[in-house]
Amino acid sequence: MGKVIGIDLGTTNSCVSVVENGQPIIIPSSTGSRTTPSVVGFSKKGETFIGETAKRQAITNPDRTISSIKREMGTNWKKKIDKTVYKPQMISALVLGQLKKDAEKYLGEPVTDAVITVPAYFNDVQRQATKDAGTIAGLNVLRMINEPTSAALSYGLDHGESQKVMVYDLGGGTFDVSIIDISEGNIEVMATSGDNMLGGDDFDNRIVNWVVDEFARSNGVNLSKDFAAMQRIKEAAEQAKKELSASDAADINLPYIVQEKGQPVHLNMRITRQQFEQMTRDLVERTEPPVRRAMSDAGVTNRDLSKVLLVGGSTRMPAVQEKVRNLTGLEPSKNINPDECVALGAAVLGSTLTGNALISAGTGQSLILFDITPYSLAIETVGGIATRLIERNSPIPTRFAKVFTTAHPYQPAVDINVLQGEGPMAADNKSIGQFRLGGIRRAPAGVPQIEVTFDINTDGILEVTAKDLDTGQFQSITITAEDRMSDREIEKAKKSTQILLEDKGK
Ligand SMILES: Nc1ncnc2c1ncn2[C@@H]1O[C@H](COP(=O)(O)OP(=O)(O)OP(=O)(O)O)[C@@H](O)[C@H]1O
Ligand SMILES: [Mg+2]
Repeated sequence: MGKVIGIDLGTTNSCVSVVENGQPIIIPSSTGSRTTPSVVGFSKKGETFIGETAKRQAITNPDRTISSIKREMGTNWKKKIDKTVYKPQMISALVLGQLKKDAEKYLGEPVTDAVITVPAYFNDVQRQATKDAGTIAGLNVLRMINEPTSAALSYGLDHGESQKVMVYDLGGGTFDVSIIDISEGNIEVMATSGDNMLGGDDFDNRIVNWVVDEFARSNGVNLSKDFAAMQRIKEAAEQAKKELSASDAADINLPYIVQEKGQPVHLNMRITRQQFEQMTRDLVERTEPPVRRAMSDAGVTNRDLSKVLLVGGSTRMPAVQEKVRNLTGLEPSKNINPDECVALGAAVLGSTLTGNALISAGTGQSLILFDITPYSLAIETVGGIATRLIERNSPIPTRFAKVFTTAHPYQPAVDINVLQGEGPMAADNKSIGQFRLGGIRRAPAGVPQIEVTFDINTDGILEVTAKDLDTGQFQSITITAEDRMSDREIEKAKKSTQILLEDKGK
């Protein structure tokens, strides 16, 4: 078996790592950077750009450039470019393919096996889409693990003492918070919560809106419809945001932002940290409820936590660090790199899966890793009630079976409606799959015995089976969405993706 790479497939940036001489290291991209923008661009001439080059051409090619595709994973987002209809899996596959290539170049050998990280909050459909993206990219996805778990893993390697830690991960597009128990030889996720629609992009957008409003006020020109101008503003906004993590003010200078009556108009603005913090306070506040929920689910108070790990580039913002301090009463740990530790942990796990036992530095014992399911899973029963089979935060893999019966006399079939969520009623939850078990023998209500089994594998993918214990007949589904790609579709996408990656490699 060759080397296993660990990939943090991020909303804004991705990162790839491998274990060498017992230590996880970051594999630099072809352009020499330690992270690769998760951006894909298609030129009108038929070239494909991935990563840094894609991000750079985004300004001049905005409608053929795709970024933040991670937010669309598991949805039926589609984009037609020239003759190809792209799905989120295919765009992610191009990013993964680029990382695979960078790794092969660095290692000087072919790479096929990978561990890919996903936000703890990703549901089944999103996880499956991520796995499919790996397959399309020509990767054998050995395992998918939650990002905070992966971060803790890279952390747990260096520290052997028993403790409970919080992983606070504010990235480009998602927020995750997890409570993790690191004890002798074990890393266990006790609880996880988050918001998969909150991240650095939202902070950028606040600056963008402010710039557009200010410009409209002072110049009477509405830039919001000007695609190229908006791309430049977005880039400058992110840059300003980063500067504000280290200084009290940042300048936004965009010459020739627009033409007015044949004359170029320049954009020059200054934003202070105070202004920025004011316009984004609510975003920072939005991290509080998930933190509280994760803590209460794990049954821990501030006193039980010995560390808070900051993960994700957005945790470099002083206001975020201040918020974490206030919430936990702890000084956040900064001795792990927030942009890299997720990929490092994935590489560490990858290495253990090939039989290289993971050794905890402190105790010299092997580490065992537990993951958990982020939502409760239920089926709909009589009266629209959500009857839970698997509780939120159950360690995975897990399996649970329960016997149900019919509600009506001589009922020939039962409909299984699989639900995800915490609500007591079916309608309060998300329906993630439905199927029918037919052929039930004629019997009065309450007589047939239908066993429903929920089976979650190590990747967090759910299979539901309903079995008639009388006849032995059963039906099962692996939870899918309409937009789940078929094996044939994956094969097809694999071919076209390889062609695009080869094109690039010329
Ligand atoms: N110095 C900084 N100050 C503020 N924000 C920063 C800084 N450096 C990076 N960021 C922000 O961090 C975000 C990217 O973080 P990261 O690379 O961890 O996210 P990601 O892994 O792509 O996203 P996700 O984890 O949500 O999938 C971007 O929004 C970026 O602007
Ligand atoms: Mg991340």
